[in-house]
Amino acid sequence: MPKTQFYSSLQKEIERIDSSKSSKRFERVIESFTSENPPRAMIQGKPYLIFNSNDYLGLRLHPALRAGEERASQAFGSGPGAVRFISGTLSVHRELEKKIATFHGRDDAMVLSSAFAANMATIFCLAKGQNKDALISSNSLVISDELNHRSIIDGVRVSGLESHQKAIFRHFDAEHLSQVLQENAGKFDRVIVVTDGVFSMLGEYQDLSKIQHVIAQHDTSFAEGILLVVDDAHGAGAFGPTGRGTEEVSGAKADVLVGTLGKAFGADGGYITGDQIMIDYLRESAATYIYSNSVSPGTAGAALEAFKLFEGEEGGRLLQTSQDNIALFKRLASEKGFELASESVHPIQPLLIGDPAKAKAVTLGLFERGIIVTNINYPVVPKGRDEIRVQISASHTPESIQFFVEKVDEVLKTV
Ligand SMILES: Cc1ncc(COP(=O)(O)O)c(C=O)c1O
Repeated sequence: MPKTQFYSSLQKEIERIDSSKSSKRFERVIESFTSENPPRAMIQGKPYLIFNSNDYLGLRLHPALRAGEERASQAFGSGPGAVRFISGTLSVHRELEKKIATFHGRDDAMVLSSAFAANMATIFCLAKGQNKDALISSNSLVISDELNHRSIIDGVRVSGLESHQKAIFRHFDAEHLSQVLQENAGKFDRVIVVTDGVFSMLGEYQDLSKIQHVIAQHDTSFAEGILLVVDDAHGAGAFGPTGRGTEEVSGAKADVLVGTLGKAFGADGGYITGDQIMIDYLRESAATYIYSNSVSPGTAGAALEAFKLFEGEEGGRLLQTSQDNIALFKRLASEKGFELASESVHPIQPLLIGDPAKAKAVTLGLFERGIIVTNINYPVVPKGRDEIRVQISASHTPESIQFFVEKVDEVLKTV
């Protein structure tokens, strides 16, 4: 049977992945969380402190979110029942979208199953138009930061743009962006500049004010101007004095902002926010919105409560705790002589190890001591820059951070 040949290729591919020690499918299974402060993840009956979670404010176990989830699930059931435009739009979805838009100072927002789906749809619809009848010109150029997230890369890929319609600017290099725009002046109707807000490997952020300055300089070189699309999955809710993310930290505003509900906001799903006409257009066009279920009512109910926390004092308080914890970690790390791989002021604090085998040994050594972290290796980071991606949360206590640093120090002496 010819199919047997394909299955045999799959077998070889799996063996190749396993022998390169990059397999990801042997996932650790967390069986439950304890009610301690901070909560421990129970794995095979043993408690572990988590230092690799995107739950930057500790909201996923927050009583208000769980109560919101329960209420929405009681009212609407466990699933949306259909895609939004058929019969899957529930008042909790609309309420959540209004809260997201208000939080980011925009007219409207739309919630999708994930930020991955949001990025794919945004890039496709802005670069191409939804279908052959669309009145949107597809004579567009997409310019992407070279280290953008995979969902942006795939968004560009599925857009089916020709190679001259795709360009990359060097990471954090606004001057290079300017050069790419200059080289393409007048050649396209519209340009879409797309970037992550916070980059997840080093916790560094794109200075959007610099990008916006460059855009303003070149905007009139294209009949329909230049749109700035920012994916702030790691920034929104986690970063900036009021949690408005990279926009707040760099003092600039994107035309289209993508975020996730699955990191700082403690739930799941993704969103797009912007001007009314932009959201109206994307709601009419985004395939991952039209042909795919939204988040479940319970998830929307939980996320809604997360945004409500930012309306009261608790959001600010949690952000302050997060900042205090980051400062404490940095101080203790520096006292121990650890080298950090970046100057991040975000909860992502990468510990530079350098050697891949050593990075893996540190992760294993910490696991044996009841701590979960992630090592990030080449090719995700440059050769010789292997790191432990430490993620500090507002749910950590000073004692747990101290314990963590002690254990890292202990392990580093053994590898
Ligand atoms: C920068 C960035 N964008 C998008 C995503 C995808 O988010 P979601 O899990 O909501 O699809 C992630 C998650 O890894 C991310 O880091």
